[in-house]
Amino acid sequence: MIVCRSRAELDKMRAAGRLVGQVLTALAAKVEPGVTTGDLDAIAEGLIVDAGAIPAFKGYHGYPATICASVNDEVIHGIPSGKRVLKAGDIISIDVGASLEGYFGDSAVTLAVGRISEDAARLLRVTEESLYKAIEVVKPGARVSDIGHAVQSHVEAQGFSVVREFVGHGIGQEMHEEPQIPNYGEPGRGARLAEGMVLAIEPMVNAGKPGVKVLSDGWTAVTRDKSLSAHFEHTVAVTANGPWILTARDVPAAGPR
Ligand code: MF3
Ligand code: CO
Repeated sequence: MIVCRSRAELDKMRAAGRLVGQVLTALAAKVEPGVTTGDLDAIAEGLIVDAGAIPAFKGYHGYPATICASVNDEVIHGIPSGKRVLKAGDIISIDVGASLEGYFGDSAVTLAVGRISEDAARLLRVTEESLYKAIEVVKPGARVSDIGHAVQSHVEAQGFSVVREFVGHGIGQEMHEEPQIPNYGEPGRGARLAEGMVLAIEPMVNAGKPGVKVLSDGWTAVTRDKSLSAHFEHTVAVTANGPWILTARDVPAAGPR
């Protein structure tokens, strides 16, 4: 069953999502050569706990940290470590989830560390574009597979590939609710979207072939061909007026850096 949330519940989910967005904004400002993924995890945990919220990933099926930090050929679920030092030219996918007053938010971005190659920059741009193309199809009456179709069409037209083994998901009072949301497929299949549904849409895109494997730590998913991989995610509500991005971030103030 896919739960439809009341306006009051969606306001609570916006509060959770706003916090997740603020954490990502804060982490993005810290990403630079020399920082460790363990440093980023500690910052995220502090911000979430100080806001009276609970890190959603920590303890989930035994996951040991607040964020997932996946560098270069790591697709998702990279475990943060004080030994993993970021260097110029890396890309890092940071995934943050939190629950506030019983409702969850879940969002991810992939960021450049210092200057990155043009190919890497294009991978980040196309993956983020594919997320927004997927969000554009979110409205009452659309079908779940329209989301994956939007992702796959854009990504493959740019010569990249879509990961099949992991999917987006419904989200609400649990981090993972129905439906599952693949990032590929024919349009017009699966459940029909209705007002009040909340979806975590999360394209995972490889620069090379789509295959992935999980490392012996039991979590870190990497590309089989060692190509770069990017991941962007938003928590999005279905409203009569279209998508409401619950994890939307304030535009950071422009300025020198
Ligand atoms: N955003 C990811 C997801 O929706 C994060 C899960 S990490 C885990 O599945 F550790 F909590 F599993
Ligand atoms: Co998710």
